[in-house]
Order: sequence, then structure tokens, then C-alpha cells
Amino acid sequence: MTNNLITEHYDVDKNLTANVLAAIKKEKGGLENLSVDDLIAIDGFHIRGRKSTVELAERLQVRPADRVLDIGSGSGGTARYLASRYDCHVIGIDLTPSYVHLAADLSKRLKLDDKTAFGCGNGAVLPFMDESFDIVWMDHVQMNIPDKGLYISEFARVLKPSGKIALHEVFKGKAGEPYMPVPWSSDESTSFIIHADELKAQLTEKYFNLIEWRDVTEISNQWFQKMRAKRRANGPSPLGIHLLMGPNAEEKIANMGRSLADGRATVIMGILQKA
Ligand SMILES: C[S@@+](CC[C@H](N)C(=O)[O-])C[C@H]1O[C@@H](n2cnc3c(N)ncnc32)[C@H](O)[C@@H]1O
Repeated sequence: MTNNLITEHYDVDKNLTANVLAAIKKEKGGLENLSVDDLIAIDGFHIRGRKSTVELAERLQVRPADRVLDIGSGSGGTARYLASRYDCHVIGIDLTPSYVHLAADLSKRLKLDDKTAFGCGNGAVLPFMDESFDIVWMDHVQMNIPDKGLYISEFARVLKPSGKIALHEVFKGKAGEPYMPVPWSSDESTSFIIHADELKAQLTEKYFNLIEWRDVTEISNQWFQKMRAKRRANGPSPLGIHLLMGPNAEEKIANMGRSLADGRATVIMGILQKA
């Protein structure tokens, strides 16, 4: 039931792939010879976009032989970046069918479909064998998952010994809950946001050792305010994450910015290793 509501929240456009392709065509002049960098504007449905993905991957020291599981893979941008930069294999799993379709289409166009694969599914109940991944990556997803203990035990199960979790996630701030609607939720019924320390305690209670847990709220806030000012001045460009957010995209983006500025949201980048 909750997952249906979450899918409803994200599944904003039944013609998403066609509309994104039209926007790419408009902005890049065609659909031929696209590179991973050509898709930056649609590829990061998270704060600081590609910048944060590059940062987290470097700190994680991704290796070419790694098998990576991207939970809540969205448009597939993280998977394509990791596969093209590190030559690793990435499987993306996501609740939202239109995003999965888009991710697979874009990866095929970039000839990265031998290194990436996408499927519909719940990141908290994983359809994978025990010890089958080196890395579980999760970027701006866990605030949609009510049972934190469930996905933590699933991550531990599918990770190989000494496998790592890479997290880039939004949490509750000291000043209270974020203003709604936000990019991940239209109201409280699909938002399961908690304080960062609560998740850290659950992750390290049994299954994982902490390698790093960086509070990146301030740089996230600065990036967000700059991005908002640019949008106000120039309007959104044809290709952008607003295409993934539906008609009230600007309101959701504005509320995320206000929540960061007012202490109603924090952002953490974390790396943990299976104990
Ligand atoms: C804010 S977007 C982030 C997408 C992607 N990680 C990125 O950084 O571009 C959140 C994504 O998580 C997915 N999602 C939410 N709950 C999920 C769950 N329980 N299992 C799998 N995917 C989920 C949504 O469908 C959506 O694609």
C-alpha cells in the first residue's frame, strides 16, 4: 500500500522516456553520440547532482571488478557514471516503472547496457542471492522506506564479506520536519524521515562498521540556494530533474531549499563496511 503511494508520487509522466528524449534533442541537438556527461542535468535526482556522485565514488574507491547495487536508481545516472568511470557492473532497482524504463533506454543509447541493468522492485526486500555485491549504493531514497531495520539486514545479506554501503541521504533537521511537498513525497504518508543519528545507530548496531559519516548540510544548502537563484533568473532549461517531478516540481524544489536553509533537513554522506 505505502509502496503504491510512493510509486504514484514519482510516476508523474506516462510518456516520461519520450519527453526526456525530446528535451535531450532540444538541448543537445540530437540523440546520436550521447555521452554520460550530456545527461548530467537529468541524471542526478539528488542534492549537488553529479558533484556528490563523483565525491562519494572517490571516497569509496570503486574498483573495476566491483558489482554495485544501486537502490532507488531513478533515471540510472549514478549507474551509468560508475560504469563508465570505473568499468564496474551496476544493477539498479527502483519502485517506479517509468524511471526504470527511462534508465534502461538511456543506458542502451549510451552503449552501457552491458555494464548496467535496471529492474522494478523494492529496495527493502531484495531479489538477489546472499553475498552477491561488493557495494550497495543508496542516494536520496531511505526517507521513502518505513522499516529501516529491514533494508539494513537486506543490505548486510546481499553484500559480500567486507562489502560496503555508500549513502547520500536526507534527514530531519533540529528545527523539525521538512516543508511539504518535497521531491520525495507529497505529504507525510510517504515520508519516513528520521534523524541521522538514529539511522547511524541502527546501521552500526549489528551489521556494519562506520568508515565515515560526513555532515554535508552546509555545502548542500549553498549549492541549493545557488541553483535556485539560477532557476529564478533563467527559468528551468528543457532538460532537468523537474521532468521527473511533475507539474509542482518548482514547489517541491523550493521547499527542499527552504527546509535546508531553516534547519528542517540535514544531508549526510556515509560509508560503512560489513562487520
Ligand atoms: C529522489 S529519487 C533518487 C533517485 C536516484 N537515487 C538519484 O540519486 O538520482 C528516489 C528514488 O527512490 C525510489 N524509491 C523509493 N522507495 C523505494 C524502494 N522502497 N525501493 C526502491 N526504490 C525506491 C523512487 O522511485 C525514486 O526513483
